[in-house]
Amino acid sequence: MILLMAWRNVNAIYQIYPRSFNDASGDGTGDLKGITERLDYIKGTPESLGADAIWISPFFRSPMRDFGYDVSDYRDVDPLFGTLEDFDELIAEAHARQIKVMMDLVPNHTSSEHAWFQDALSARDSDKRDYYIFRDGGPDGTPPNNWLSVFGGSAWEFHEPTGQYYMHSFLPEQPDLNWENPKVREEMGDILRFWFDRGVDGVRVDAIRWMGKDLQLRNDPINEQYIPGDSDPYHMVRHEYSRNSEALDCYLGSMAAVASEYDDKAMLWEDHLDDLTPLEAQVRRIYNVHPGVAAPFNFQMMHTEFGSRSFARTIDEYRSYLPDDARTFYCFGNHDESRLVTRFGDRQARMLAVLQLMLPGTPVVYYGQELGMQDADIAPSQIRDPFELRVPGRGLGRDPERTPMQWTAGHQAGFSEAEETWLPLAADYTTVNVEAQQRSPKSFLELHRRLITLRKQYDVIGSSHYETAHVDDDLYSFWRSDGVMGFLTILNFSDKFTPISIPEGGVVEVSAQGHDYTTYGYVAPYDGVVLRYSQ
Ligand code: GLC
Repeated sequence: MILLMAWRNVNAIYQIYPRSFNDASGDGTGDLKGITERLDYIKGTPESLGADAIWISPFFRSPMRDFGYDVSDYRDVDPLFGTLEDFDELIAEAHARQIKVMMDLVPNHTSSEHAWFQDALSARDSDKRDYYIFRDGGPDGTPPNNWLSVFGGSAWEFHEPTGQYYMHSFLPEQPDLNWENPKVREEMGDILRFWFDRGVDGVRVDAIRWMGKDLQLRNDPINEQYIPGDSDPYHMVRHEYSRNSEALDCYLGSMAAVASEYDDKAMLWEDHLDDLTPLEAQVRRIYNVHPGVAAPFNFQMMHTEFGSRSFARTIDEYRSYLPDDARTFYCFGNHDESRLVTRFGDRQARMLAVLQLMLPGTPVVYYGQELGMQDADIAPSQIRDPFELRVPGRGLGRDPERTPMQWTAGHQAGFSEAEETWLPLAADYTTVNVEAQQRSPKSFLELHRRLITLRKQYDVIGSSHYETAHVDDDLYSFWRSDGVMGFLTILNFSDKFTPISIPEGGVVEVSAQGHDYTTYGYVAPYDGVVLRYSQ
């Protein structure tokens, strides 16, 4: 079976964090009209990036405790972002440019302000009580077990009026839904149909691992490797029982089954691989859930150490576990992780763009990645992310990678007319911005545009065979070919000119550092070079 048939020609997915992309209303926070205004940037003109799809992080009604990942009404747009009509207009304008639109579904938890939860809190015998996970405390009043919240502290919050604890894998204002309850599965299915019928083409499904919990609520074992004060306190325990239970497959299956009621919808799981189960078993399992419509993101590149051998090894290993017809969705950055340039440096990030955009499947590009945006400095008074506020000082905060998109060198980088934006701009916006880079053939933006366009022009990049050609301490190269024509990608992970020998007859399509390569024999420091071989 070919995965995601309707999406198989999608060359790239561009992730938009709606608070930070473009502010049409002038209140300092991005919105849906703002996205619509900028669709030409994505696709439709010669200057466009050329991406076939966008994924928009949550824009639903929300008290914004976790900036939209706490949904209080799954069927409405938050007034901060606009209205349902604005969304209809966005879809229509996107489709007019042949851009597919992917939304973000948060099935593990609702906001504590969601009507279901408010009802559940009203009495122990409320109809909606079993939509959530309420339990009695221990005899001494302690929480039901030792499970932890990702955002710090116990995963249990006591509700005084009804005398029970409820479970929350994230904030106390994000109570977990009880996916064992068939009514919850039905509700989520209806929500999916609501958006699919409105024209949404795909869904990114948030935080799936946490949906599957041990029904006996067994304690998670203590993590002996945990270093107090040094690492994230969430990892004090090994999350053996609080997530990723056997039943997860059935919960995910119920959502994917709804997507497969349609001919052309896709579903992407936000799944973080862990070290509790062998990687092979995890990969095979997740690729097995309704493979015709659904597949996981791959986040390994966001945690891979810089080096030719480490990247080659990670990619080879993952690919070796995939079913033959699996489609891969590599993310090199997103709204939860430090930006590529900050992690590795400017030239290194350019080279990694070549890697990401020459791998098979469908790459996912986080807004600003194509400009080489960096993490911004956030002063203590400007911190917004609840993660940083609750577990401070460990570098866990996600504000630095969520700052406004840099369109111009002008007022608020062209993002907003407001005097103040919800997060500050990164200091480099006067030089790192769309306007400046669109005029510069050696810019980050031009490199991304070139690679994304190449993926459109040559189907082999998305769908053909991948084969490692060579790996040593400095170089990593791989082939993408269908037997008739192919591409050789050469990445130099060192800061030196490195000798290479390559087959004759290749045409240089891309150089990450903008070199001409009139003669072969060396690859420039941190260059990523793509050679095309036609028959
Ligand atoms: C996912 C999201 C993250 C959010 C969390 C809770 O990991 O990517 O931003 O905070 O889920 O919904």
